[in-house]
Amino acid sequence: MSTTEKLIDLIERRSKAKLGGGEKRIEKQHQQGKMTARERIELLLDEGSFEELDMFVTHRCVNFKMEQSKVPGDGVVTGHGTIDGRVVYVYAQDFTVFGGSLSETMAQKICKIMDMAMKVGAPVIGINDSGGARIQEGVTSLAGYAEIFERNILASGVIPQISAIFGPCAGGAVYSPALTDFIMMTEDTSYMFVTGPKVVKTVTGEEISVENLGGADVHASKSGVAHFKVKDEQEGLLLIRKLISYLPQNNLEEPPLMQTNDSIDRIDDVLNEIVPDNPNLPYNIKDIIFTIADEGEFLELHRNYAKNIVTGFCRLGGMSVGVVANQPNYLAGVLDCNASRKAARFVQMCDAFNIPILTLVDVPGFLPGSGQEYAGIIIHGAKLLFAYGEATVPKVTVTLRKSYGGAHDVMSCKQLRGDFNYAWPSAEIAVMGAKGAIEVLESKHINNIKDEKERREFINKKADEYEKIFANPYQAASFGYIDDVIEPRNTRFRVIRAFQTLQTKKLVNPPKKHSNIPL
Ligand code: HXC
Repeated sequence: MSTTEKLIDLIERRSKAKLGGGEKRIEKQHQQGKMTARERIELLLDEGSFEELDMFVTHRCVNFKMEQSKVPGDGVVTGHGTIDGRVVYVYAQDFTVFGGSLSETMAQKICKIMDMAMKVGAPVIGINDSGGARIQEGVTSLAGYAEIFERNILASGVIPQISAIFGPCAGGAVYSPALTDFIMMTEDTSYMFVTGPKVVKTVTGEEISVENLGGADVHASKSGVAHFKVKDEQEGLLLIRKLISYLPQNNLEEPPLMQTNDSIDRIDDVLNEIVPDNPNLPYNIKDIIFTIADEGEFLELHRNYAKNIVTGFCRLGGMSVGVVANQPNYLAGVLDCNASRKAARFVQMCDAFNIPILTLVDVPGFLPGSGQEYAGIIIHGAKLLFAYGEATVPKVTVTLRKSYGGAHDVMSCKQLRGDFNYAWPSAEIAVMGAKGAIEVLESKHINNIKDEKERREFINKKADEYEKIFANPYQAASFGYIDDVIEPRNTRFRVIRAFQTLQTKKLVNPPKKHSNIPL
């Protein structure tokens, strides 16, 4: 072959590889409202930045006459590129090639870019769209999954890992995304489950649709598996770009500091009025977050799951900050099993990636009852306590209103190494609410009062006395548990100053193999 012929041959080979499973299957993909693997990568990365690897890799399977059908690239597109100029590694399964099913060689391609990402310290983004293990390959496919899982595990807490589910993700395949830091699912076109509807029916008799078993709605609101539900792939890919902007490249780096036009010492008078006088009235904690954050921007995770606690990213003076906040608008902001797990994982993730944590507290306590006890609220609550207590990143806490009992301790209190713990004048820091406390302290006396009206008056009087002592931040402040009581309207600049002074914070936990968080 002449040099020119060789070049033409290369171009032809590339074009063939880029067609994946062929035009017909690409058309089917489009008809289903899905993009191809390459289209997805193109939209995700900075224009022209993608460098593809292993385009000519083919499978080695000889079962079921598979040697006669080899597609260059073998069902996954892998490589690296940039997002806002920062390097990321990416793989996108190509459903047009054997349904994106995972072969031995596909696994090798994915592992190769994961290894490279670890070497250079860059995030990995995986776009999943696959029929699962390549059936014709049997155990080599299962081994391939395990190779990926092991890398997911070793990369955990070292480089950010993001999983987008843009199609099927079933069986053991779900465990790679589950091991990563963030999972995103598209409405209508994605699903995740360990066993599909047919197996469910055979084993348990339950009849259920794919959507109701493992659709985006289910995982974004019921199971909490998905951090983000997006209406389509385009929205999802842009969201990944945004998410990456809050994260460092790896655990040894800081998240990028962004320029902001939002004045650091902006005063927000609206905050002085935001907490209702009646402690039983709700308000929306997100209004406070939006008000404090740079340019009112907040990227919420798990928006529809465990809504009694809010988690997400904002910027404060350009710094990336993880926010954890009780939500009085939903179940009065109580801590239950799901809220505790949700927040614990978020706190751990922030700590792993050097993202300072702002905690906004308005919590009436842990949700009482047998339902929660049987579901293990002790262990789940301990997760959040553990995550906060172990975290060494800068931690600033602002108590807005209630901070009762065990929940007070758990929500990043001073003794869990909170760096700056502020309170608004509306804060109530106590062992429990006034009525509950009086019913315990005065139970004998209360039982002896026969007249209902008299009993109520007695409880109210005692509750008033209790509130005078405890329904304020000053007892805690008198012990130094609260560093300062601040005017709500000054919250933004007080918190930003706190985080600024903490930029050089050094805190190291005792050496150990790893901790044993109550899982
Ligand atoms: C090989 C597969 C495949 C697979 C799909 N294909 N899944 N090839 N191995 N696992 C092929 C099909 O033969 C077809 O090839 C093409 O991909 C598209 O599939 P369709 O069925 O036409 O697409 P659709 O109607 O959209 O249905 C998608 C699907 C279905 C629901 C995912 O394909 C399906 O049920 N696949 C099998 C899923 C499964 O049971 N996988 C194994 C799970 S166990 P042609 O040539 O016709 O285009 C597992 C264990 C992992 O994954 C363990 C990890 C530890």
